[in-house]
Amino acid sequence: MKGLLTAGGHGTRLRPITHTKNKHLIPIANRPMLSYAIGYMAEAGIEEIGIIVNARDREIESEFGSGEEHGVKLSYIEQDAPLGLAHVVQIAEPFIGKDSFLFYLGDNILVGGVKKFVEEFEASKSNCHLVLSRVADPERFGVPEIEGDKIVSIEEKPASPKSDFAVTGIYLYDSSIFEAVNGIEPSARGELEISDAHQFLLDTGRSVSFSEITGWWKDTGKPSDLLEANRLVLDNLTGVKAAKVDGKSSVNGKVVTGEGTTIVNSQVRGPAVIGQNVHIENAYIGPYTAISDDCRVVGSEVEYSIIMSGSSVENVERRIEASLLGHDVELSQSQIRPRAHRIMVGDQGRVEVA
Ligand code: G1P
Repeated sequence: MKGLLTAGGHGTRLRPITHTKNKHLIPIANRPMLSYAIGYMAEAGIEEIGIIVNARDREIESEFGSGEEHGVKLSYIEQDAPLGLAHVVQIAEPFIGKDSFLFYLGDNILVGGVKKFVEEFEASKSNCHLVLSRVADPERFGVPEIEGDKIVSIEEKPASPKSDFAVTGIYLYDSSIFEAVNGIEPSARGELEISDAHQFLLDTGRSVSFSEITGWWKDTGKPSDLLEANRLVLDNLTGVKAAKVDGKSSVNGKVVTGEGTTIVNSQVRGPAVIGQNVHIENAYIGPYTAISDDCRVVGSEVEYSIIMSGSSVENVERRIEASLLGHDVELSQSQIRPRAHRIMVGDQGRVEVA
C-alpha cells in the first residue's frame, strides 16, 4: 500500500502566518503539522508516500527531504492549480500505479493514528473505505447518507445534510478510484470533488465501507482549530525535561523541555512543550502552550498559545492567551512615556488589545 498526502493550498484563513509559511508546516506541539500524518503512515506500514504540493513550492521538500528521518520514501508531486481533491487523485495516478493507497489530507489532525483504518479496509476487501466523524456542522463537509450499515449516497457540503457525519480527510482506495475521478465533472465551485468520486463508486456498484473515528479529529482551517489541535496533542504528550530549572521555579504536570532551555523564578503548568534554548524568567507558562526554539518569555504570562521560534514576550502585564505568534515576533509592553500601543504588524495581522 502507498500513501498520498496533500500539502498544497493557500491557507487563506490562517494569514498572516501563511503569507510566509505553508500551513502544513505550522508547528503543533512544536512539530510541523504534516509530520504527524507522515508518522502515522509509517506506523501503519506505508513506506512510499507521494506528497502533493503547490507548483514550484520547495518548502515542504526542504523540511522532509527524502523521508529518511521518518523511515519512509517521499516523492513530491506538483499540482498546477487548485482544481479539487479528485484532481489531486488524478495527477497521482502515475505515482500510485496499480497499488491500493491511503489518501490523507495533510491538515487533518487526529489522535491514535491510521493503522486501525488500514486494517479495517484490508479486512473489508472493499473498493473504498471512508473514515467518518460525528460533527456539529456537517454542512461544511462531505456528508454520507447511511441506511442500516451501508452508505447509500454522499454529498459535498449539502445545505440539508442527510446525517450528522463528516467524511474526514482519511480515505482508503483500490485503483477503481481512478475510473471515478476521471468519470466526474467539476462542481459549481469549479473543482473535481472527492465526494462526487465517492458517489460515482456507489453509482457503479463498487463497495464503499466505513469506520467511525470516536476519538478526536479536526481539519485545521482556522487559528482556533490550530490551538485546539495543539491542546489535543499536548494532552497526549511524552518526552523529557532537559531544561535547567532554578530553585525558585516550579514545573508541574506534563511538561517537555529542550536542551539549553532555562527556567528562572517562574511557574510552568503543563501540559506544555518548550523547545531548545528558550529563556523563561519571572513568568507563568500555563496549560496547552507550545513554545518553539530560541524564544524568550520574561515578566509575562502565556497560556493556551503557540509561539514559533525566535519570538519574545517581555513584560506584558496581561496574560497572553489563545494566541498564535509567528517566527521572530517581538511582543513587549511599552516602558517609556507616553504609554501607548506601538504596533508593527504585517498584512492581515490580527491584534486584540485589552
Ligand atoms: C474536504 C472535502 C470534504 C471533507 C473535508 C475533510 O473539504 O471536500 O468532503 O469532508 O475535506 O477535511 P475542504 O476542506 O476542501 O472544504
